[in-house]
Amino acid sequence: MSEQYDVVVIGAGPAGYIAAIRAAQNGMTVACIDEWKNKDGKNAFGGTCLNAGCIPSKALLESSELYHRARHEFKSHGITTGEISMDITAMQKRRATIVRQLTGGIAGLLKANKVEGLVGHGRLLAGRKVEFTATDGSVATIDATHVILATGSAPIELPIAIFDDANIVDSWGALEFTAVPKRLGVVGAGVIGLELGSVWARLGAEVTVIEAMVDLLSMVDRDIANVAAKDFKKQSLDIRLGAKLTAAKVNGGAVDVSYTDQKGAQSLQVDKLVVAVGRRPFTEGLLADDAGVQLDVRGFIEVDHECRTRVKGVFAIGDCVRGPMLAHKGSEEGVMAADLIAGETAEVNYDVVPSVIYTAPEIAWVGKTEEQVQASGRKFKKGSFPFAASGRAKAMEQTSGLVKIIAAEDNDEILGVHIIGPMAGELIAEAVLAMEFSASTEDLQRTIHAHPSLAEALHEAALAVDKRALNYPN
Ligand code: FAD
Ligand code: NAI
Repeated sequence: MSEQYDVVVIGAGPAGYIAAIRAAQNGMTVACIDEWKNKDGKNAFGGTCLNAGCIPSKALLESSELYHRARHEFKSHGITTGEISMDITAMQKRRATIVRQLTGGIAGLLKANKVEGLVGHGRLLAGRKVEFTATDGSVATIDATHVILATGSAPIELPIAIFDDANIVDSWGALEFTAVPKRLGVVGAGVIGLELGSVWARLGAEVTVIEAMVDLLSMVDRDIANVAAKDFKKQSLDIRLGAKLTAAKVNGGAVDVSYTDQKGAQSLQVDKLVVAVGRRPFTEGLLADDAGVQLDVRGFIEVDHECRTRVKGVFAIGDCVRGPMLAHKGSEEGVMAADLIAGETAEVNYDVVPSVIYTAPEIAWVGKTEEQVQASGRKFKKGSFPFAASGRAKAMEQTSGLVKIIAAEDNDEILGVHIIGPMAGELIAEAVLAMEFSASTEDLQRTIHAHPSLAEALHEAALAVDKRALNYPN
């Protein structure tokens, strides 16, 4: 470890480690400090995303979906098997192996890019100095020409449902269950509640989700949310809307849950309760009193559109600053900050950050919902195409869902693309690229899409905007 670096990054999640690598690629000397410790007591780079978020959740979603499809779909393909069972220990071992390989990969990437990976706690002092406390307790002060704060977020804990890491757990706890709970309660039908609720429901848990809002997925286009609601019902996810948690108490090996809905006070008992009511920026122990960096009223580090804090040379990126709490948003901010430090032109186009919910079917969108366009007063046209009319989706036995495109009436600019269906998380990339290049629906209409492919649904939806769909009645 040196006493001086061009750039010191605090946090090695998808925002921080990407910023560190890009800064090193730009010819800077870089250190990246991270204190993440896994449940086995071992430190690992990669932050929430790799250790307790994006990657382990997708590993379990894949395993549980394969199990579900083997049980419910194989027959229609003519496949006969013996009794199908799930070995939860093996499933969890696979998840842990994927996480270990990927987090180890980041350590390798940092090394390959000559970034000094420092394991321990980082604290910003005045004058762009960083105090580094190593895992052995030794303390050093590093001089940094530039600092990038990327300390991420943590689950919100409700005072009426304190995590005990056994019966009342956060999303990390719910990723590491060693057995399928018979009755699983989830507070919050947000992204985590729906993804992790799906995992354990597919594996046989009786899942009840309590959601305070009266609309399911209020941030999603209504046409898409309505399809999702029907599909989740078919999957036996019991989602109770307009239901606000009032108490959760561990009672023996179970949890007594109380909530209120339109009918009044309600209760239920579950074996495990996952509380997934959002995440909060994590800045504990990060800023010395005289560091000069400000937090906003919600605890996010205050930054401008270029992720600059009020202190010259100090940037903040990822979940600890405003904007969607998504890995790819943080990574792009990391690239921007590193490039700005190197004196290059850089920006993040916040209007085209894609969102994906990895349920079955997947939900993905970019740009504005129909409701948002309507509220903006801009005149628009729209078109959609159902996967039930897609040859590829039929061959895949995954015909639920649709692609919907909203475009400006005056100049045909694509304003929003909304997908619910197979591989929606992959399909949305085409829409993101189109919108990044300010494409019109005519551009999509004139682009050749391979046949048969799921992407043809985007092509047909673009045609449908002008009532020119070829494979579905307009
Ligand atoms: P983090 O990943 O939280 O990393 C911050 C790092 O900084 C951590 O390692 C932390 O230990 C370290 N740190 C904090 N303070 C200090 C300090 N003072 N000194 C040293 N180190 C410090 N997003 C997606 O885009 N797609 C998904 O599919 C997805 N799935 C998710 C599933 C779950 C269950 C959860 C919980 C989240 C998911 N997310 C997903 C969100 C995603 O994980 C976050 O948006 C992303 O991790 C944010 O990246 P970050 O680098 O800002 O912060
Ligand atoms: P969320 O904000 O997506 O959903 C929280 C839900 O809890 C909301 O619907 C809210 O109305 C509800 N809620 C709040 N208080 C409640 C109460 N007292 N009783 C009942 N319901 C209540 O937050 P979530 O699911 O915790 O996820 C946090 C963040 O992590 C997401 O916003 C997202 O940014 C990120 N994430 C992204 C994923 C992805 O990209 N696929 C997957 C998982 C998480």
